[in-house]
Order: sequence, then structure tokens, then C-alpha cells
Amino acid sequence: MKDFNSNDRQIAYSQMIWEITSALQEDDSLENALRSSLNKTIKFIGAEAGTIWYYNKDGDNRIHPSYWVGGADLTGMSLAYGEGIAGEVISSGKPTVITDCRNDSHWASRFDESTGFVTKSMICVPLVNKHEIIGCMQIINKKDGSLYTDEDISLASSLAELTAIAVESKGLDLGIFTPRKPLLSLRDITKDFGSGENLTKALRGVDFDIYEGEFLVILGKSGCGKSTLLNIIGGMDRPTSGSFVFDGVDLSKADERKLTDYRRYSLGFIYQAYNLINTLTVKENLDFIDGLANDPIPIAEALEMVGLADKANKYPTQLSGGQQQRVTIACALSKKPRLILADEPTAALDYATSIDVLGLLQKAVRNGTTLIMVTHNEEIARMANRVIHIQDGVVSEVTINKYPAEADELVW
Ligand SMILES: Nc1ncnc2c1ncn2[C@@H]1O[C@H](COP(=O)(O)OP(=O)(O)OP(=O)(O)O)[C@@H](O)[C@H]1O
Ligand SMILES: [Mg+2]
Repeated sequence: MKDFNSNDRQIAYSQMIWEITSALQEDDSLENALRSSLNKTIKFIGAEAGTIWYYNKDGDNRIHPSYWVGGADLTGMSLAYGEGIAGEVISSGKPTVITDCRNDSHWASRFDESTGFVTKSMICVPLVNKHEIIGCMQIINKKDGSLYTDEDISLASSLAELTAIAVESKGLDLGIFTPRKPLLSLRDITKDFGSGENLTKALRGVDFDIYEGEFLVILGKSGCGKSTLLNIIGGMDRPTSGSFVFDGVDLSKADERKLTDYRRYSLGFIYQAYNLINTLTVKENLDFIDGLANDPIPIAEALEMVGLADKANKYPTQLSGGQQQRVTIACALSKKPRLILADEPTAALDYATSIDVLGLLQKAVRNGTTLIMVTHNEEIARMANRVIHIQDGVVSEVTINKYPAEADELVW
């Protein structure tokens, strides 16, 4: 018998099961369905994070995170079969409740050590499909510190059962991971501004990786720390603490010269204000940028890419906002940078022009550019491969768009 504290709670519980069932049945994308179900379950239980692990039995025989909400960025991490609490649950097939993870013999401490996340307690239930264990699901850190109730455990088990059924009935593959080498890794990045009464903790421990060829969006409300983060990634500001590794080199403590080279040869920048030199023509602006690059794209070709071949001899002030932003994009692309950083590139543009500019950026990514774009617009985030959600200076959630939206599908 479940120990429901009230009739209302029981109704809410049934409602949750119903919502999860419909989401898993109706959503075309298993990933979206799982993410929303996991999110609902975490909220209902009052937990901090949740992860679905996939056992890659027919591949490398390791356990990989498939989906996660809240908590640390688990991209690229994996466990050996039997390792950690996930490994134990997958090998034993037994649901487990752990009230003090750090004192559990199965606890894989290296995860928290590398991400900075603190795992306190969890429910971990196996995902069983046709008597075969395909993975497990974890509900992590009950926020109020209370013990998990029978109701919590029952809900997690139901979600696991419904997930396994959805995986089976849709004939879908739970494993979406691709082990790749990150182009850029941020670990426990903090940034303080001011001191004493004027201290602002703009970033409070940010971790994530970006991979070559990826379109990553940093999404969050005004003041959450997005630009601060982008300025650190762009080598324009230094973190108060933490490490920031680009292509295998730790730049968090690099000298000014190294940082200048990094900005000059490895990065392209696109900002809200167009950053063009108004006394130079479009062509001269590009020429100036190209003078800073090793092997730039020819100016005519760069202008062709952004549809401005006929504006080479105009001055920025003779162009519309959208056209100026296209020139900025041409400048960023012409350097053939390893990484392009864009901070709200469409904030000053009207809707139709924004869609145009976003389409250009999307095309650049499809041609091999790696792009990090900061925005507060959730609709724009749908274009990304991966979205890092920032709240109050920390990563609150990482979501993956398995099917990123086309620029011209966006509406706001
Ligand atoms: N140079 C600075 N000196 C003092 N505080 C700063 C400085 N730069 C940013 N901050 C503070 O750090 C926090 C994060 O600012 P940030 O500019 O990164 O936010 P944001 O997410 O980019 O916001 P928006 O969407 O409005 O651009 C804010 O509280 C801001 O006031
Ligand atoms: Mg900003």
C-alpha cells in the first residue's frame, strides 16, 4: 500500500502518471518525451536532477548518460559495467534508494569531482525491456533533504516502466551519445565582480564542453551571467577561478599574448552592436579583419556568402541594421575561425531580418563552423544542437535538440 499523505496528493499522483503516459505515447521524439517526463517527475518529487543511463551492451559494454536534466553536464562521461550506483543497479536489476551517496560503497566519486556537482541522495531504478536491462534512471537530491517516500519510489518505478514500454513500442534507440573530443571545456568557472557590499557573483561554478561542428546556445534571463560567460570564453575577461581549456590548452592562466593570439586566430565575434568601423567601407572592414587572419576567405567570396556582393564599396552607415549584421558575420566567417561567439546577434533587428541572419549562421554551422550563441529567446534556442540553460550564474539544465529547428520555422 502506498503511503499517500492525502487524497489530493493521490489525485496529483494519478494525474502525473497519466501525463507521463500520454507524453511517452504521443510525442514523436522519444527524447523530448523522456525529457519532459523526467522533468515532471523531478518536480513532483521535489528533486534537483535526473539522469537516464543507457547500457551499451552491444557496443563498448559501458554505461552512458542518455538524457539528463538539472545537475552536472555529463557529456562525454561514462561508467564501466558494474561501476557506480548506476552500474550496480544495471548489473543487479534492483531498484535502490540511497540516502547518503558519498558513503555508499558503489558511489563513483570521480563524477562529482570532475563536475563540481554534489550528489547527496538518489533513487535509482532499472529500465527493463523484455526481461533485459537496457539502462537505469536516477532521481537525484531531494531538495528539502527529507527521505524519499514510498510515493516517490513508486513514481520513479512507474516512469521507468513506462519509459521501457515507450522505447520498445517505438522501436527506438535509447543511446544517443557520441564520444567526441571537446573543442572547449569549462570546469567550475566562477566570476566575481566588485567586493564587500558590492560583490556580485556573476558565475558560480559553470561546467560544460563544446564539440567541433556543434551549434550551442547559452540561454537565460537578463542578468544571469551569459555575457560574462561568453567574455571569458572569448578571452576578453578572466575567470575568478576555474579552468578553461581550448583545444587541449588551459587558457585560464595564459598570458596576455597567448590570449591575443587565441582571439585573433581561433575566434570570430558577432555582437548585438555591429562592431564595424564606420570610416571604412564594407570591403575595407573585411580587409582589416583579414589582415589579422592567417588564411582568410577572399573578400568577394565572404560577401557572396552573406548576400552582399553589391555592397562592397558602401560605408556601414549606408546599410540597414540587418545588412550591417551580415557584414559582421562575413567578417567573422572570413577568418575561418575554430569557434564563432555570438552575443544576442539579432537583438537589434526586426523579426524578418533576424530570421535571415539566423539562417546565415545556421548555414555556416552546416558548413563546419562551431558556434556558441547567447540569447534570452527560447525560440532561437530551438535551432541549436545543445542548449545550456543558465540561471543565477550556474548551469540549471542541459537540453539536446535531436532535431534542431530551421531558422525559418521560428516564430516570436
Ligand atoms: N563589469 C561588471 N562589473 C560589475 N558587475 C557586473 C559586470 N558585468 C556584469 N556584472 C553583473 O554580473 C551579472 C551578470 O551579468 P551579464 O552581463 O553576464 O548578464 P547577461 O545574462 O548577459 O544579461 P543580459 O541578457 O541582460 O545581457 C549581473 O548581475 C551584472 O550586473
Ligand atoms: Mg548579456
